[in-house]
Amino acid sequence: MHIDIITVVPELLQSPLSHSILQRAQDKGLLSVQVHDLRPYGIGKHHSTDDYQFGGGAGMVMRCEPLATLIDELREKRNYDEVIYVTPDGERYTQRRANRLSLCNDLLVICGHYKGIDERIREEYVTLEISIGDYVLSGGELAAAVLVDSIGRLLPGVIGDETSALTDTFQDDLLAPPVYTRPAEWRGREVPAILRSGNTPAIEDWRQEAAEKRTRERRPDLLGD
Ligand code: ADE
Repeated sequence: MHIDIITVVPELLQSPLSHSILQRAQDKGLLSVQVHDLRPYGIGKHHSTDDYQFGGGAGMVMRCEPLATLIDELREKRNYDEVIYVTPDGERYTQRRANRLSLCNDLLVICGHYKGIDERIREEYVTLEISIGDYVLSGGELAAAVLVDSIGRLLPGVIGDETSALTDTFQDDLLAPPVYTRPAEWRGREVPAILRSGNTPAIEDWRQEAAEKRTRERRPDLLGD
């Protein structure tokens, strides 16, 4: 999979993309991510990428022309499955959406800043608008990093233990059950005996029940009843 990201703050994306699982995915050639600085496409001697909004009001808006020039350039090289704009007024991001996006070949992610991007860019190019939660970030870069991380780890071969991503919280609309490692007793707290029994079917039943209990208690909305 290839992901292009457009931003005015490329530095913000350098670190999250160059660690652990995401770096491994890139090293293995399973994922390539390219961050594109919008600034050189800005207008005038200051390479301006934003301007005051029509109608007045606080906050700048990202201009059409620099974005359009860069997007057109990128679209000459790739046929994107989705052109994604990360924005608080987008669709709420879920594991289901991450799963679907992990099946794509090419994605373009546009990061907004200030008051966001000119509405006409959304109309002209954007096919999917995603919000990572009901709060406002100062820019779309952290949201873009969330997308790349959550999608990248789902690509076949990225996570060593293939079943691991399949048993994540949310993967079957349930929270994950509690997990334990050594020691078997710590500060008087014991690991449930069943997990040490070696009885695989009984362990699976216990995990399923624990996941359902946890979901009922913490996120009944996921159960849809
Ligand atoms: N940009 C600013 N806030 C955001 C959010 N909550 N989700 C996605 N992009 C954003």
